[in-house]
Amino acid sequence: MATIPTERSPDSSVAFLRDGYRFVGRRCDRHGTDIFQARLLLEPTICLRGRPAAELFYDTGRFVRAGAMPKRGQRTLTGRGGVQGLDGAEHADRKAMFMSIMTPTAVRHLAQLFDDEWRARVPTWESGAPVVLYDEVGRMLTRAVCAWAGVPLADSEVDRRTAELHAMIEGPAALGPRHWRGLWGRRQGERWVGRLVDRVRAGTLPAPDGSALRVIAEHRDAHGRLLPRRIAAVEVLNVLRPTVAVDRFVVFAALALHDHPAWRQRVRESDEAAENFVQEVRRYYPFFPVAAARVRRSFDWQGYHFPRGRRVLLDLYGTNHHPALWPEPERFRPERFTGWRGDPFALVPQGGGEHLTGHRCAGEWITIELMKRAVTNLTTTMRYDVPPQDLALSLRRMPALPPSGFVVANVRRTA
Ligand code: HEM
Repeated sequence: MATIPTERSPDSSVAFLRDGYRFVGRRCDRHGTDIFQARLLLEPTICLRGRPAAELFYDTGRFVRAGAMPKRGQRTLTGRGGVQGLDGAEHADRKAMFMSIMTPTAVRHLAQLFDDEWRARVPTWESGAPVVLYDEVGRMLTRAVCAWAGVPLADSEVDRRTAELHAMIEGPAALGPRHWRGLWGRRQGERWVGRLVDRVRAGTLPAPDGSALRVIAEHRDAHGRLLPRRIAAVEVLNVLRPTVAVDRFVVFAALALHDHPAWRQRVRESDEAAENFVQEVRRYYPFFPVAAARVRRSFDWQGYHFPRGRRVLLDLYGTNHHPALWPEPERFRPERFTGWRGDPFALVPQGGGEHLTGHRCAGEWITIELMKRAVTNLTTTMRYDVPPQDLALSLRRMPALPPSGFVVANVRRTA
């Protein structure tokens, strides 16, 4: 049996925060493997990257999610008791609930609401004053997803709810104030949505048929029980929060159009080019660094032993940048997706494997559709200047975002 290369440091948590998205990749490169072990948050943890590793990691016969997500992630990003930490039949039931919301018609409807928000907003940017795209898109997505999910939202509430949802996303890998804001965002968010769940159940809030709020509030498990109110709130937030998080991908798309201006024309020419562009944005730019699971029962893989209960991290960023999968991985080249047939274990910004039976992201189609609408708006609905600003993307900051949030100025309507 081969020994898994092991980091000598007594604990690598600080190194993880310091190296950010490159933590796993750097150490794999140093050990000359796609596997190593380190102590993280005082616990031995096996880190993996690459396609065979992704295929292994998404084998639900070998891994479970219960107890895998560190507490600081649960307290801010995901909440406790949601789909992310479930296994087996309970996961299948909860995941089916999510996937029932993601019909092609529903996905198109959300994309249309976002598009309407964008087109309505462009005239207000025409004064010439600079606009921070990240802030604007965050608010547009909050409005669109709340309308879509059956969540009432007064105009006066938009800023506050967007801030809470952003705080949850920023919270897990941060120390100090950014983490505390994450705790605040989650507390406020769960209270807000919990009250809405109560009103739907009492029949005093008529959420539309098939909307996320209605489906989740009325969902019954295999024993015919409604979800506890707090968990229903966690699951509604599992729709609202990540949809608003698409604003980061929209900023990355704007950044890519800025750095590769030839693609402004190409994405307008065909849907295929726009799709390739969006896929490359999802591959190239950093979002979630890793996914976490625990070994269900001991097994051996490629000569390495995985003991029962051991925490395992799959390097999502490193797999999206693995040279064996992606030639010239550090170059932004949307044409690499021309004729790509799809591979559930190669492009994993939103997890890998199957949507229904595994933990792959429930919102991948929504994400792609929203990004395509954003790219269309950035290239056809408006013209803009990109004034001097700090656009440097640090791979040490998780989740990553250019410091300026991508400022545009001198916006002109074109369609
Ligand atoms: C910004 C774009 C998004 C990114 C980067 C993203 C990323 C991810 C990742 C990495 C996972 C975990 C995969 C794993 O545990 O192996 C995940 C799971 C999930 N995502 Fe997303 N996501 C995004 C958008 C969305 C949207 C728009 C929705 C819903 C409307 C959504 C809902 C979910 C849910 C419910 C899960 C849990 C799935 C499960 O545990 O079975 N996500 N996402």
